[in-house]
This record gives sequence, structure tokens and C-alpha cells, in this order.
Amino acid sequence: MYDNWEDLEKSIVGCKKCKLCTGRNNIVFGVGNKNADIMFIGEGPGADEDRIGEPFVGKAGKLMDQAFKGLGIDRNEVYIANIVKCRPPQNRTPEQDEARACLDYLRNQVMLVRPKIIVLLGSTALKNILGEEYAITASRGIWTQKKGILYMPTWHPAALLRDESKKIDFWKDLKQVMSKYDELMSKTV
Ligand code: URA
Repeated sequence: MYDNWEDLEKSIVGCKKCKLCTGRNNIVFGVGNKNADIMFIGEGPGADEDRIGEPFVGKAGKLMDQAFKGLGIDRNEVYIANIVKCRPPQNRTPEQDEARACLDYLRNQVMLVRPKIIVLLGSTALKNILGEEYAITASRGIWTQKKGILYMPTWHPAALLRDESKKIDFWKDLKQVMSKYDELMSKTV
């Protein structure tokens, strides 16, 4: 683990810890406020993210930005990262060995950001962070606290593109996040 961003960012350059390195154009490390109170964790880069090198800049990201706007969240105020930093071929789910190889980077990011709240976007984020026994359908919308961090699992934004009805849950879950954030902030002043 690195105690500073510079060393962590240097350590991932040219990463060959898993086979996803062979197909990538860019490592999609993470973006946003490095001291954010709220962090979002997705699954892995898609084609647009791989091309640009930034998480959630494609269709799913645009949907997330719309929700952010409605909630008064500024994309630059939060921190956004993924379970894997390189694009899985055909946007398939990251395999276990890939997620395992990459997770230390994310753990280090969490350690440095020190968020109060982490939003887990979809099943891959949920299972890799909280455990395989968690199912997104049963867990979304429900807070879990672990080592001083509050976790809110919700649908992955790409799931909203496939099923519009999930937008209502997604909105409700993010509303809960904002209420909790306001509650935490009111206690610190
Ligand atoms: N889906 C993800 O999980 N992450 C991204 O960065 C983009 C799409």
C-alpha cells in the first residue's frame, strides 16, 4: 500500500498483473476529488472509458451524470473508480482472477480518499467489496457498515439502460445517500 497518490499512480503504469492488459488502450484509474466524502465504484471500463482513460464517460456514465445533476452532486466533488482498471473484452464481467489482481489498487484508493460513503454500482462491485454472498437484488437500497465506511449498493447504471423501471430504485438509493451525507455533515459542524 502506498501512502500517497503519486506513488500509487506510478505503480499502476504498465501494469501486467492480469490478462486484461493485453487488450487495453488506457488504464482507467479513477477520477474526481481525492478527498471525497462519497465514492462510487463501478465494474470496469467500457469502450469509451478505455479510449478516453476516464471512468463512466459512455452511455451509462451519461445516465449517472443526469442523476448527479438532479441530486445536486458535482461529478468533481465525488471520487469514481472501478473494480478493474482495464477493459474486459466485449464488456464481459471481470473474471475472478482479474478482479483479485486489481483490487489492491482500489483498496489503496479507498485508503487514500477515506470516503464516508461508498456507492457500489452493480453486482460486480458489491460482490468484490462486500462478499460473494451478497446479491444485488436483495441488497440494493440497504446500508451496510464495515470498518467505518457506509456502503450503499445500487443498480449499475447500465442496468437502467436495459430496464427503465430500475431508474426509480437508483434514484431512491442515491437520495438515501444524499440524506445520509447531509446527516453526517450536520454532525461534524
Ligand atoms: N461501466 C463501469 O462499470 N465502469 C465504467 O467506468 C463505465 C461503465
